[in-house]
Amino acid sequence: MSNLMKAVQINSFGDRNVLMLNDIAIPTPADNEILIKVKSASVNPVDWKIREGYLQPMLNHLLPLTLGWDVSGEVAAIGKNVDNLKVGDAVYSRPDITKNGSYAEYQTVAADEAAIKPNSLTWQEAAGVPLAALTAWQSLYEFAKLEAGERALIHAGSGAVGQFAIQLAKLRGAYVYTTTSSRNTELVKSLGADQTIDYNKEDFSELKDIDVVFDTIGGDTQANSWKTLKKGGRLVSVTENPDHAIATKHGVSASFCFVQPNREQLEKLAELADAGKLKVNIDSEFTLDQVAEAHDRSETGRAQGKIIINVSA
Ligand SMILES: NC(=O)c1ccc[n+]([C@@H]2O[C@H](COP(=O)([O-])OP(=O)(O)OC[C@H]3O[C@@H](n4cnc5c(N)ncnc54)[C@H](OP(=O)(O)O)[C@@H]3O)[C@@H](O)[C@H]2O)c1
Repeated sequence: MSNLMKAVQINSFGDRNVLMLNDIAIPTPADNEILIKVKSASVNPVDWKIREGYLQPMLNHLLPLTLGWDVSGEVAAIGKNVDNLKVGDAVYSRPDITKNGSYAEYQTVAADEAAIKPNSLTWQEAAGVPLAALTAWQSLYEFAKLEAGERALIHAGSGAVGQFAIQLAKLRGAYVYTTTSSRNTELVKSLGADQTIDYNKEDFSELKDIDVVFDTIGGDTQANSWKTLKKGGRLVSVTENPDHAIATKHGVSASFCFVQPNREQLEKLAELADAGKLKVNIDSEFTLDQVAEAHDRSETGRAQGKIIINVSA
């Protein structure tokens, strides 16, 4: 095979025009890494936030950088210390976001950041799971420690993270309220939401005695969420570091979750998907030479599920 591959990279920060489809060398896996022949990648809002340079103070990326941190594909090669995966395995991953991403024909990933892909999901569906579902898992199960019988308010239930959050909260045995626009009411109910609040017409801040708020919006949404919590309640945000002084004033706790790679959690998510307990909704599909259009779609803030980049699927 040629030692070159196609990859969508940036060499400066900015709008969609900084995206370039380049021919670059296929990377070689380090001792602890696998080389994935990418079938599908998915787009997350963090991709265009990184493209714009918003996260540079935190992530300090070196350029050129290949974007995209959600992948499904086949193991094409393994490093000499890898013993949990072999060439030919079908895998999926949310890899280390400080390294080159998945908008490419091949990607190297640490072997402990990848798991066997859920059998029952297509390459596209599998690529849509890792980043958004791990975010929901870590926010609800690890940060908020959501328990059976608790009342959870999940903001933006129709978003990629929100859709997994509704399903994981229901699997935990919680009662789920979610904010959504009316066009997405049936969608979030189909995922298990018990009560929907149309954020264009109703005031979610009138809710009371919520145990856990999952904030996927920030700004006024976070500000108006505090008073819905009961004393001792927990707010976890993935968009904006909550103000701990405000949390204390309301007698609640607050945390910020920045999703981390996690093989064991990917394995559990795969089990749920294969048991028919985790649905993946695809909003739209693009190809590697249409990443700018895929970013446009994500930046509308109106996606109803995952935005997929088909690489070789
Ligand atoms: N910290 C982390 O590790 C982490 C990880 C993943 C994501 N995030 C962040 O979490 C946010 C959500 O990510 P995502 O992938 O779920 O985004 P997404 O899929 O692009 O979210 C789009 C959805 O948000 C809904 N929405 C927009 N404004 C709303 C509002 N005011 N109230 C309720 N719903 C609203 C839209 O529904 P309507 O069209 O019905 O309005 C749409 O379905 C992003 O800011 C992302 O960067 C952070």
